[in-house]
Amino acid sequence: MWNIGIFSKADLDAVVAIERQAFRHPWSRDSFLKEITCECALNLVVRGDDTQYPHGVVAYLCSRLIHREMYILKLAVAQNWRRKGVASMLLKESFSRALEKAALTAILDVRRSNFPAISFYHKHGFQVVGSRPAYYSDTGEDALVMRKKL
Ligand SMILES: CC(C)(COP(=O)(O)OP(=O)(O)OC[C@H]1O[C@@H](n2cnc3c(N)ncnc32)[C@H](O)[C@@H]1OP(=O)(O)O)[C@@H](O)C(=O)NCCC(=O)NCCS
Repeated sequence: MWNIGIFSKADLDAVVAIERQAFRHPWSRDSFLKEITCECALNLVVRGDDTQYPHGVVAYLCSRLIHREMYILKLAVAQNWRRKGVASMLLKESFSRALEKAALTAILDVRRSNFPAISFYHKHGFQVVGSRPAYYSDTGEDALVMRKKL
């Protein structure tokens, strides 16, 4: 039904479309382009067979591996594909690839109000280890810092 692969230039249009749907302040195409050409990046996409998505991309995860830590920068699933286990599958595959590259922990920032994402990360073993007050300049909202041992 779907498969996971490396996020390439050919996936940019589809990823940007999902990004705009998923976030109030989406990353630009250029930001993604920089990310996929970054040497320490681990960026994956899930491709489905649903024709309404160009190239079949339904989800993506962008992360960087720095000093044995995996920084998750972006994770999003197209609206119609949520609550079907797609993000879980993508996260697990990212962990397994990060482990192969000797990562020990995974870490991320999430908006304090993003209950679906916080619940999702808790479900996958992340714990809140701190907060960054007024981290998001658009709303002044705090970020929660969540971490998990791989
Ligand atoms: C967060 C997100 C990636 C989850 O993707 P998904 O494919 O729906 O997640 P999965 O189906 O693999 O996992 C479902 C679990 O996530 C959590 N979850 C997902 N959506 C939820 C919601 N609307 N309300 C509460 N919990 C939710 C629950 O723990 C759920 O487990 P359950 O079904 O047993 O209750 C997706 O909602 C998304 O793309 N959101 C917009 C972008 C975003 O906020 N990204 C995270 C930024 S840090």
